[in-house]
Amino acid sequence: MSKFDPEHADHLDSKERRERLAPDDIFSLLDIEKNDAVLDFGAGTGFLTFPISERLTVGKVYAVDVQEEMLEKLRKKCQEDGCGNIEVLLNEEGSIPIQDDEIDKAFLINVLHEIDDEATFEELYRVIKEDGKMCVVDWDKEGETSHGPPASERFSLEEAIELLERYGFAPIKSYKNLDHFFVSLQK
Ligand SMILES: C[S@@+](CC[C@H](N)C(=O)[O-])C[C@H]1O[C@@H](n2cnc3c(N)ncnc32)[C@H](O)[C@@H]1O
Repeated sequence: MSKFDPEHADHLDSKERRERLAPDDIFSLLDIEKNDAVLDFGAGTGFLTFPISERLTVGKVYAVDVQEEMLEKLRKKCQEDGCGNIEVLLNEEGSIPIQDDEIDKAFLINVLHEIDDEATFEELYRVIKEDGKMCVVDWDKEGETSHGPPASERFSLEEAIELLERYGFAPIKSYKNLDHFFVSLQK
């Protein structure tokens, strides 16, 4: 499946997107404790990395992405805004450079439809702690929209849950809103 084009990165941080996909709505599905170790997988330019970072006092957020060009933009923001508790990590497809059972909460925002290998899901399972949780938000195949990836590349909420269950995750809460689905899962 195709990867997000870094040339369109500005859109990820637009005010309009932040209204439609408010970080507070995402956190209402999976809240963060101040000492959590959090993974923002497919972090891009840090749309959710910075709101996560603000909620942590002693915890840490790992911003992981497979495209260096996206991480460069995230690092630039870090230099401007400061990012003491953010660790920026470039990964290779199918691997996550984090040790076993390190992560309390993982977030995948508009990334699921870009993952095209089984190893990534096994890696997510490996790095999340035994009682850890994951939150997945993505374009809904059944949602009405004039932009975003084509329907052929998207999942429905039910398909996403079925896929993640195959890798050991159990759904906790889920809902659909406009053209996105939201689901929290337990390892
Ligand atoms: C549509 S962008 C979303 C970025 C960010 N999560 C947000 O919501 O603004 C998808 C991001 O996922 C990254 N990505 C896709 N497949 C990945 C993989 N297998 N491992 C890590 N990052 C991946 C892309 O490079 C891109 O930065």
